[in-house]
Amino acid sequence: MKIPLIIVNFKCYEESTGQNALKLAKICESVSKEYKIEIAVAPQFTDICSISKEINIPILSQHLDPIKPGAFTGHVSALALKQAGAVGTLINHSERKLELNKIRECIQTAKDYELITVCCSADVNESKEIAKFNPGFIVYEPPELIGSGISVSQTKPEVVEKTVNVIKKINPNIKVLCGAGITKGEDVKKALELGTVGVLLASGVVKAKDPRKVLIDFAESIK
Ligand code: G3P
Repeated sequence: MKIPLIIVNFKCYEESTGQNALKLAKICESVSKEYKIEIAVAPQFTDICSISKEINIPILSQHLDPIKPGAFTGHVSALALKQAGAVGTLINHSERKLELNKIRECIQTAKDYELITVCCSADVNESKEIAKFNPGFIVYEPPELIGSGISVSQTKPEVVEKTVNVIKKINPNIKVLCGAGITKGEDVKKALELGTVGVLLASGVVKAKDPRKVLIDFAESIK
């Protein structure tokens, strides 16, 4: 995935499920192509395959299980995600929290199948621990701001900046994003000014009256 990067997490909202997910993914693709900015989408497992057949922007899973193909029920394997058309996966989102050892296993499992790893972290200490596992991306996302419309980049700039610096010291190859409460172009611009390479967001686009308008605001803030 190219940077700067905007990842739209579809979560399990009705507005981003099934046919609505495909419709929203097409809007993301249209703005991405028109404004030449990288927009990736993270739909539910059940929508990855149908969306990957219709659009040509990066598709991430919202989670994966650290398993190899075999006798596992109710899990989601890296192999299945790869074959469904995902190019990467979120790991340890605060709504799908994992213990540290599981995070390490998920990162390794994703790497074994050449899936890009976008690992979420709730604070600087967790970011430090996760950086030791060398994910492709770490997203600083304070849980208390998720869904709040209060932008992490505007209200916690010092933590965003500290997260970038701490991670770069451990492994300069890890790209840092931030998320939670991102709803306006100025929130994205601020995130980039603080040293991240982009944002992870959900409700600001998924629940918007006009998702295209919000995405264009993001795109114009990056130019
Ligand atoms: O994965 C990003 C998400 O948790 C942030 O939520 O609704 O504040 O953009 P939201």
